[in-house]
Amino acid sequence: MLAATGRESSSRGAPIRHAVVVDGEIEVSWQNSGVTARFSPFWLRDHCHTPESLHPDTLQRQVDTFSIPTDIAPERLELADGGSTLRVIWSHDGSVSILPSDFLRGMAETSGRIAAPRRRLWDRASMQRNFPIMEHTEIASGDPGLLRWLSMVEEHGFALASGVPDTLEATQQLVERIGYVRETIFGGMWDFTANLAFKDTAYTSAAIGPHTDGTYSFDSPGYQMFHCLQFDGTGGESTLVDGFKVADQIRRADPLAFEVLSTVKVPAQYLGDGVHLRAEHPVIALDHNGDFAQIAYNNYDRAPFSLAPTRMAAFYRALKLFNELINDPAYEITMRLEPGTALLFDNWRTLHGRRAYQGYRKLCGAYLNKEDVESKLRVLRAVAGGGGTP
Ligand SMILES: [Fe+2]
Repeated sequence: MLAATGRESSSRGAPIRHAVVVDGEIEVSWQNSGVTARFSPFWLRDHCHTPESLHPDTLQRQVDTFSIPTDIAPERLELADGGSTLRVIWSHDGSVSILPSDFLRGMAETSGRIAAPRRRLWDRASMQRNFPIMEHTEIASGDPGLLRWLSMVEEHGFALASGVPDTLEATQQLVERIGYVRETIFGGMWDFTANLAFKDTAYTSAAIGPHTDGTYSFDSPGYQMFHCLQFDGTGGESTLVDGFKVADQIRRADPLAFEVLSTVKVPAQYLGDGVHLRAEHPVIALDHNGDFAQIAYNNYDRAPFSLAPTRMAAFYRALKLFNELINDPAYEITMRLEPGTALLFDNWRTLHGRRAYQGYRKLCGAYLNKEDVESKLRVLRAVAGGGGTP
């Protein structure tokens, strides 16, 4: 029988109502919903969930994809466990593939892509002074506190921690609660005062306009932590801008500029200290859904490149608009980083800058990789949800 129909059941998740072969594909529909999806037989065999085909712990593929017959076809479809499992009996060798209903339903709804997280875009007016902040003791006390803090960073693109001991070691411990410190040309965990040893404007006391770090890196640092350990002077407030808010504004107000900013790959470079890094990113990178994925903007580090004349003019016009908005006080928040208050921000979303300052300032910090912070969030959420450590 090339169709299977399930009875109403009380199994958890989304039980399959019906599975049938249509035009050589397997069409699945679910109970209590209008969701229907088609899967190719080859794909279903490749994603079989038996332990011989999919490692039960690591979810690594065990099936030999390339030994699956290209014309593989089902002999029979069956629903098991009240519709929570689809069984496919293959005609060429009589073997059975098992596909959980929830797995197929998830694929039907997302194509296996990860949706952008829930974000709250902000500008100066909406953020006001209600900065996301948590006590260091709560963050350090256990996974629930850390999950809450990282969720704040995910939602707003930054969060503060108060009551952090004003030492590099304590700051490093906080970073390492999340993931490991990323090593770059600047080292790992760093601290500095005004220091011209490095050929980078971050090491002077002049004002620095809003930017993201590592535009010259293929994998720009995902997150950055700052902790001011000592300050004796005036000025030096940190500035943050929600790059996704600015991108959203441009998308609404100037689609032509948005098209340019989201497609033209802008090269950037870092030269000095025996290295020459070079990479390119669009100013506004989008994911497969058109959601914002990454802002990469540092006009100081942009490398020479040219486009056809009309495209070049469109690029400069769009870049000027972006630069105007990120420097518009309406989009900017400012804060004075003080000993005891650490700032963690998403360097793929939040632009940072600094007012000029006079006096003595000692800052420490570190980069974290995007993937490591996201991994930590997934693990913490799985544990909090009762799923155990993946
Ligand atoms: Fe920076």
